[in-house]
Amino acid sequence: MTKTFAVIGDPIDHSLSPNIHNAAFKALGMDCTYIAYRVPRGELKEGIESLKQIKISGFNVTIPHKIEMMKYLDESSEECKIIGAANTVTNENDRLVGYNTDMDGFLEPIKKRNIAIKGEDVLLLGAGGAARAIAAGFAKEKARRITIANRTKEKGQELAKFAASLGAESNEITLEEAGQNAGNYKFIVNATAVGLKNEPSPISTNAINSQSVVYDIVYMPMNTDLITQSKKKSATVIYGYEMLLGQACLAFEIWHKVGAPYDAMRRVLLGGF
Ligand SMILES: NC(=O)c1ccc[n+]([C@@H]2O[C@H](COP(=O)([O-])OP(=O)(O)OC[C@H]3O[C@@H](n4cnc5c(N)ncnc54)[C@H](OP(=O)(O)O)[C@@H]3O)[C@@H](O)[C@H]2O)c1
Repeated sequence: MTKTFAVIGDPIDHSLSPNIHNAAFKALGMDCTYIAYRVPRGELKEGIESLKQIKISGFNVTIPHKIEMMKYLDESSEECKIIGAANTVTNENDRLVGYNTDMDGFLEPIKKRNIAIKGEDVLLLGAGGAARAIAAGFAKEKARRITIANRTKEKGQELAKFAASLGAESNEITLEEAGQNAGNYKFIVNATAVGLKNEPSPISTNAINSQSVVYDIVYMPMNTDLITQSKKKSATVIYGYEMLLGQACLAFEIWHKVGAPYDAMRRVLLGGF
């Protein structure tokens, strides 16, 4: 019987996850399908019930449900518990087990490039759900200090506290200060939504240099202003689509217990840009 998978969220019509997972099924000749299913805010409980009705084998969770999803899990992984959010769920006979592949999916492209994190300083822009998973990832990899810069100061301070609770030194600065001091950090990560609408970089890029590793998790457009400016400064750049693929590959491996066909998944994704 064909196994069905899904991504739930709202908005969901532009999600690239169905393309990525269906390309993987095709590459490996698997009898599975993956659909996008719009579940509006406030309707998560009903959404999950209907997924159980169609005997969903597993699903991804995206904005705005990642945190609320925790309430409906029968069991959750260590990563979920640390981050307080789930983005991947397995369903076995209506028993839901939650995972969070955002953290390791984010780290994957850094590891692939053999760039060390231990002892390095991180400038993290943003303090939303994605920034939380990223802060947890850098803390896990023993970054020396994680500096948070966010538009809303209180949220930045809260995230800095969270990072400190995981054992990293952490502080909070403004986006303006972040631009002025960007040259002092090994990693500069954009985890704000700025760039999605082709806006200018959330910080000044003047101080970015050839020693900087600039990672923009916004994946559409692929070349955000931050990425374009950082390339001009000869920085190492990491694209948002790489995190998207990283988390998708890890979810695939949780569900199917076989290695994900990375190249087939990457090809279909890049074809979409
Ligand atoms: N590549 C991937 O796999 C991947 C995975 C997850 C997310 N993402 C992308 O990452 C971004 C953040 O996602 P999220 O889940 O963390 O969203 P979220 O929880 O809604 O957080 C949004 C963040 O962006 C900031 N922000 C929004 N508009 C801004 C503006 N005009 N100026 C300055 N800051 C602004 C917010 O600051 P305030 O606190 O001040 O509101 C907050 O820090 C989205 O673009 C999403 O598409 C990519």
